[in-house]
Amino acid sequence: MIYTIAIDGHSSTGKSTYAKSLAKDLGWTHIDTGAMYRAITLYGLINFNKGHSINEKKVIAALKNIHLKFIYNPITDTNDIYVNDENFEPKIRDLKVSESVSTIAKIPEVRSFLVEKQRELGKSESIVMDGRDIGTVVFPNADLKFFITASIDIRAQRRYLELKNKSSIITYEEVKENLIKRDYIDEHRILSPLKRAEDAYLIDNTFLDKEQTYHKIKQIVISKL
Ligand code: C5P
Repeated sequence: MIYTIAIDGHSSTGKSTYAKSLAKDLGWTHIDTGAMYRAITLYGLINFNKGHSINEKKVIAALKNIHLKFIYNPITDTNDIYVNDENFEPKIRDLKVSESVSTIAKIPEVRSFLVEKQRELGKSESIVMDGRDIGTVVFPNADLKFFITASIDIRAQRRYLELKNKSSIITYEEVKENLIKRDYIDEHRILSPLKRAEDAYLIDNTFLDKEQTYHKIKQIVISKL
């Protein structure tokens, strides 16, 4: 039996962390679809940078030459994303990528390219996949769906601390502004906008820490699967 769990939600709610822990506990594979959109964006920034933006036409034309894969990294215990055999993981969460990713994720050709890959990845094994449209578009028949959200201030605070710990030179205001912009673009795009699937469990972790949030998710998984 192959199972699929979809975890969608807003940026910086810890989706990927919970998806990763859940996959580990279940012995399944974790797929972070945000990493896939970020990898395409970084590829665009490297190869088709127009100064303040990325040449979208060139990104679309290059898709056929982009080979994405995840490879487990035992040192960091993460599934690192590779583009044409180069490890993109160390740079995909830089602010430069975060600033452009939602614009690249709006491009229909990019979405269909990645959605097809995501469906392929879920064909042969049980997965926990996190993103924005997993329960609504990629796997509308997923066995279990979650939608995670939290207030903008708490999300900005968490993301700011995370980036500061990685010694990024960034202010809280810059982080918050980036989250607000990304939320807006993600929620208002025409193709597969960020929204809660009707049958997704809603988890607001504004007042919950990591352990409490994960406990809540785990309880639902145990009772429903
Ligand atoms: O999850 P993460 O914050 O890394 O995602 C980065 C961006 O990629 C999101 O802000 C969104 O624009 C895009 N994305 C998407 N659909 C997904 C996953 C991510 O549009 N399934």
